[in-house]
Amino acid sequence: MEVDTPKISSGLEGIYITNSNICKVDGINGRLWYRGYSIEALAENSNFEEVSYLLIYGALPDAEQMEAFSKKLKQYRELSQTTIDILSRMVGRADPMDILRTAISALPADDKDAYENSDDQNARKSIMLISKVASITATIGRMLAGKTYVKPNGDLDHASNFLYMLNGSKPNERDSKVIDLMLVLHAEHATNASTFSAMVTGSTLADIYAAVTSGIATLKGPLHGGADENALKMMREIGTPANTEKYIDDALAGKKRIMGFGHRVYKTYDPRAKIIKKYLIESEDYSDDLKNLAAIALRAETLMIGRLGKTHGIWPNVDFFSGPVYLSIGIPLELFTPLFAVARTPGWCAHVLEYWKNNRLFRPLDFYTGALDIEYKKISER
Ligand code: SDX
Repeated sequence: MEVDTPKISSGLEGIYITNSNICKVDGINGRLWYRGYSIEALAENSNFEEVSYLLIYGALPDAEQMEAFSKKLKQYRELSQTTIDILSRMVGRADPMDILRTAISALPADDKDAYENSDDQNARKSIMLISKVASITATIGRMLAGKTYVKPNGDLDHASNFLYMLNGSKPNERDSKVIDLMLVLHAEHATNASTFSAMVTGSTLADIYAAVTSGIATLKGPLHGGADENALKMMREIGTPANTEKYIDDALAGKKRIMGFGHRVYKTYDPRAKIIKKYLIESEDYSDDLKNLAAIALRAETLMIGRLGKTHGIWPNVDFFSGPVYLSIGIPLELFTPLFAVARTPGWCAHVLEYWKNNRLFRPLDFYTGALDIEYKKISER
């Protein structure tokens, strides 16, 4: 039904597209819950494997369910020669997010039931994707360092195995704890751009591989998952805490976006950033470089909150403090955004599986403002 002048909601701002039981984001009070559990409780008590189960199945697992889920994750960690060949051909020649997206797109070639869409098959493929995205990302990082594929280590949990496949050695206790926490904090965030993108793809009844590929492609952008990498690059550009104020003021005067700040939903401090910040300032054994980056980050935080926090609702988000914390556990800059995809795969899958229960093709409207019935002239007459 055509209307005269419809209200356009640019970027679908403020538009509700579905009901969901997966995640609540309270942007006014800076609160976040996965399936009813606060992010603080999950960060304190849970782990990424258990949170992935919670997101996919809707409840915390008992010991038997957890063991079975962990076993399934382990069985999918190994990469096929097809995948290794794709990575070998692309690493060093394309953005790691494009390599990850391409390798995921090729996975159906190794899955005889790739296009079976029963609930059980979709759950199986989701678990497999959670596992493969981690192994592929770790292997991209390894190949970027000029090293070859390392087989997964069945003695380690998902997060520790990621570091094992990246470095070729077992991680220490602190690094395992930090990487697992970062995966928990990045695992889910309601209908953010990449999750919405995965849902749109799923709403056409394309398969879960296609949906996750859409999620990865969308997460890449600097306004979304790419902000963690750009926030660290900004800290490097600033160079010293003393330079921070001039850098921020020049950037704001030039209407530049300060990466890692601001959010479409949070108009106060992102609760995930608060937790990550604690790790940034509590680590006594940081190198001088990391101590310098932490000092720059804390200075930028104070300045940005003073300038745009209370007045404009622009506060640190999940991406701001992540970079220095990733560096502290040996994650290279090029893997920051792919690591976001490693974390977000259970979130993407959970929303697609939930939406399929009451599926409706996404097909919004655009209000046409051009001319109509223009007379067609042959090219010789134009
Ligand atoms: C993630 O949606 C999710 O849940 C995402 C995420 C998840 O877990 O999936 O939380 C992960 O993507 C976090 C966001 C990471 N992106 C960044 O850090 C990039 C920098 N931030 C911005 O680009 C911005 O804050 C957005 C894109 C995140 C949100 O912006 P909106 O809601 O589209 O707001 P806007 O662009 O309309 O900005 C409103 C005003 C503008 O000023 P005016 O043009 O009105 O004068 O605020 C300004 C903006 O210029 N502004 C900023 C700013 N963010 C907004 N100014 C300086 N620095 C910033 N970071």
